[in-house]
Amino acid sequence: MFRKPYSSVAELLAGSAPLPHVQVAGWVRTKRDAKETAFVELNDGTSQDNLQVVVDKKGLSGEDPLAEIHTGASIRVEGSLQPSPASGQKWELSASSVTLLGPADAETYPLQKKRHSLEFLREIAHLRARTNTFGAVARVRNTLAFAIHEYFQNQGFLYVNTPIVTGSDAEGAGQMFQVTTLPLDKVPRNDQGEVDYGKDFFGKKAHLTVSGQLNAETYALALGGVYTFGPTFRAENSNTTRHLAEFWMVEPEVSFLDIDGNMDLAEDFLKFVLGRVLERNPAEMDFFNQWVEKGVVETLRTVISKPFARITYTEAVEALVKSGQTFEFPVQWGVDLQSEHERYLTDVVYQGPVIVTGYPKQIKAFYMKMNDDGKTVRAMDVLVPRLGEIIGGSQREEDLAKLERRMTELEMAPEDYKWYLDLRRYGSVVHSGFGLGFERLVQYVTGMGNIRDVIPFPRTVGNAEF
Ligand code: 4AD
Ligand code: MG
Repeated sequence: MFRKPYSSVAELLAGSAPLPHVQVAGWVRTKRDAKETAFVELNDGTSQDNLQVVVDKKGLSGEDPLAEIHTGASIRVEGSLQPSPASGQKWELSASSVTLLGPADAETYPLQKKRHSLEFLREIAHLRARTNTFGAVARVRNTLAFAIHEYFQNQGFLYVNTPIVTGSDAEGAGQMFQVTTLPLDKVPRNDQGEVDYGKDFFGKKAHLTVSGQLNAETYALALGGVYTFGPTFRAENSNTTRHLAEFWMVEPEVSFLDIDGNMDLAEDFLKFVLGRVLERNPAEMDFFNQWVEKGVVETLRTVISKPFARITYTEAVEALVKSGQTFEFPVQWGVDLQSEHERYLTDVVYQGPVIVTGYPKQIKAFYMKMNDDGKTVRAMDVLVPRLGEIIGGSQREEDLAKLERRMTELEMAPEDYKWYLDLRRYGSVVHSGFGLGFERLVQYVTGMGNIRDVIPFPRTVGNAEF
């Protein structure tokens, strides 16, 4: 059986009685050294709060065991857990022995006891998990990931893994990273002078996936409700606070579900995972509420307790036009909603999440179910305040002839999607699904302004450090 070698700071701080003998290990956040007593703030990553270690120096053997222990060093402490006389903490550790495990040079250790800018911390992403902010983000991200599985497992959905390397463009948007082993300085060419992908590793052109949806549909049309949760890649040249080149997406796909059921699923799912964070990470959420986004806890509570607004794209455009607001990108029926429009709807008009449906077909992907008007599709975007789009989904076109017609209109080659069209050829059913950008969810919950700060090692245009 596995047992962790040390007690965690989290379990000690949550203790209900003094403990005569405990051992902890972690990293020194700060040390206050007086002649006879020293105070060390110890953090092992399990808790938003540090454990105060009180060292009675007279009681310890050796010269001054604390002389080499500075911010950033790793130490092991043995001692007893005692009620703390200091305010703001219930327990402290009275040390009987302190061992330096790994020293940290006080001159060069980049994380000092002051507030560092997020920009600076991005340059030391290998150390930033040792800060309050990034520890909190990591713990909330973990809770969300677990809650996502919990939600879908409770609903009886199967977790399926879809390929990362793919031959199809799932969104038909052409923002894909190519995967090749062809020598770039000497690509093989055919008689027409075109690149001969027959000689490439997969014998055809291949890419990193932009979405697992098309593969997930094949499993949904056999197994009912499924979901993916994996990395996706977009070679979009968007240098914004909400775009990554590599991000994680959660994609449920469900048979016999129409667009209304899909909206219910998205709303219920979001509320569940938000609720889990409020339950499981109160200290982290207090931290974000105080230091990152004032009011974020109250906002999440309100979001959980009220129905999301549901409007059509046409109503959205009318509201935006009627607002009299001047937008950088002018609005009229047919244009794609920009994030300034999305945020006006969520932050000003509805002051909460909004689900927009019935988008014009020309701004949405080829697979979406066409409405009877022939102009709009059964798409749905879930928009949230501050961020705009967090979920994109739709009911899928299950009619073979209509789907082929749409693909031809878009100059896509139906023969490249033969397997996908087979789902409509054999036992086709109404089905729907959506994609949630996992990092956007973490951003929304924590209030973090930049998506680069909610994933451990962000990949963006011009940056793949670490
Ligand atoms: O709206 P998108 O492009 O939808 C799809 O890919 C569908 N195939 C999903 C489906 O129906 N199964 O992307 C879904 C979500 C967006 O709403 C957004 O939250 C996130 O993925 N997203 C990004 N997140 C970070 N960086 C990017 N570059 C993103 N692009 C999309
Ligand atoms: Mg979208």
